[in-house]
Amino acid sequence: MCGIFGIVTKDEQPLGPILIEAAKRLTYRGYDSVGAATISGSKIDLRKDVGKVDEVAAKYNFAEMTGSRGITQLRWATFGEPSQVNAQPHLDSDGDLVGAHNGNVVNNVELRQQFIAEGLTVRSQNDGESCVHAVERYLNKGYDFIDAIRLAYGDLQGDYAFVIGRINDDKLYAFKKGSGLVAGIGEGFTCVSSDLPSILPLTRRIVRLNDGEIVILWADRLEVRSVKDGSILTREPETVTESMDAVQKGGYPHFMLKEIHEQSQVGRELLHMLESSPEVETVLEKARTARHLYFIGCGTSYHACLAGAVYFAQIAGRAVIPVIAPQFMPQYAPAVNHEDVGVFVSQSGETKDVLNALEAAEKRGMTCFGLANVIGSTLTKAAVCTLPLCCGYEISVPATKTFTNQVLTFLYLAYRLAGRDPAALAAVPELMDAALEMTAPQVEALAPSINEWNDLYCLGYGATYPMALEGALKLKEITYAHCEGMLSTEFKHGPLSAVTQGYPILFAVPSTDVPLIVSGINEVTCRGARAIAIGEDDPRLRANASEVIVIPHASPEISALLTVLPLQLLSYHMSVLRGYDPDFPRNLSKTLTVD
Ligand code: AGP
Repeated sequence: MCGIFGIVTKDEQPLGPILIEAAKRLTYRGYDSVGAATISGSKIDLRKDVGKVDEVAAKYNFAEMTGSRGITQLRWATFGEPSQVNAQPHLDSDGDLVGAHNGNVVNNVELRQQFIAEGLTVRSQNDGESCVHAVERYLNKGYDFIDAIRLAYGDLQGDYAFVIGRINDDKLYAFKKGSGLVAGIGEGFTCVSSDLPSILPLTRRIVRLNDGEIVILWADRLEVRSVKDGSILTREPETVTESMDAVQKGGYPHFMLKEIHEQSQVGRELLHMLESSPEVETVLEKARTARHLYFIGCGTSYHACLAGAVYFAQIAGRAVIPVIAPQFMPQYAPAVNHEDVGVFVSQSGETKDVLNALEAAEKRGMTCFGLANVIGSTLTKAAVCTLPLCCGYEISVPATKTFTNQVLTFLYLAYRLAGRDPAALAAVPELMDAALEMTAPQVEALAPSINEWNDLYCLGYGATYPMALEGALKLKEITYAHCEGMLSTEFKHGPLSAVTQGYPILFAVPSTDVPLIVSGINEVTCRGARAIAIGEDDPRLRANASEVIVIPHASPEISALLTVLPLQLLSYHMSVLRGYDPDFPRNLSKTLTVD
């Protein structure tokens, strides 16, 4: 997830050290490239490259940069690979403007073509550059700066925040559309950033911007205007008192909880992205004609593959073979050829097990696509093309938001393959928020009694089977208890013997198969088990389960996805009750680069 910071000072001064510190304070958001620009009179000094803040700042001597306005940006690649030219900030055609953004401009590809046709100098593939040209094109037509920004705002689709400055001026300008943006007012300076950690060491007087607002920063004041009509809006600064740690976690006690609650936002961004992604067509075309279609991943990413396979079959009538990556070599690689297609799924894009499978598949001539969160990772370089997960940095080791966006991507592809309108999926983010809100108090209340057990089962069927596996993985990953995910119908084939009085069994209920789940519930409750059903409000569940955690009503495929959210919350609460840190469970690593 990119981060931006801009500052305006009263006098020309060394801004490099301030920009380096601000950039360091945004690193928790994740990044692959760093850049800084200062403006002094009619000169713009721009330095940027791929790498860590310390490395890039030292290599290009950011510390010596001076001016009265400065911008720094950390880039998390989505459009264009991590490279110096794609790093931000960016200049306009003549080098009179400099700007940087965070977030995604989803019509970037079309806009770049328009800018090139209009004779503007486009240097990179990055959508931050499109933000600069979007302002430039209206300045060239004679609009004043504020009107040029307002018109650019209309042209730039997606969720982002943007900061821009120009030579021979005394201001910076920023606007917000979907991504975070806050401004700060200090003694002799003002600043703006995508997040508070880069501002709070400088000042605690801040103004939070809303979508559709432009902020104009002078050294001694700031002004907020409406993008709609340019009118000035009255905004009183507030004083922030929270600690830096709390601020980085967005007020949540752990990154995991923050990331659970980010799922709706990243889901929304993903859907925007998919709507305008040329890669979607490439993947669909191959998926239509492939002899065999494989979805390949490990851990949570494998569970997303399983969900994708269920959706492809149920929605598009297309059979898919989901594979745990290392098993691809002995079980499938000997039989695949150039007529087959694989989607390799990995949050990190660095999981060795997945890369090994990809290498084996490529050797056999298979077409390999990626589905990854970290663009620029080894997977994204090796794959023919990659669909980005658009989740920003996922800090907690237990994957949450990347899982739901993996599943949502497969759901979107299944809709498209079936010729169904994916606009129906626009409801998913809101339903996710509703599911979290509806279930959170009940899950928190249930957690202590379930926590008394060190042995649990999590059962599902059809589209909720992958959710049950994922819930069980979350539970064992951060509570260190044994928790097995299983097809509900399999339970009677062995594990039923483990049931004793009060034994907790979680059921992720598919709305299409309630009677089957009710049978499973009765098989265990009549032997003393405590059956906790997660599903839509249904009298059959209320009559048979020990407890029902009710999720909102939705189409069956969306409803299935929602069942994982209370399971994520349950694992989080049980981990905290046990005194563990859910963000960093023992023995585990976020990126597994070993066999
Ligand atoms: C998920 O909570 C786990 N941390 C783990 O199973 C993870 O999904 C697995 O290691 C695969 O990682 P990847 O998605 O980065 O390839």
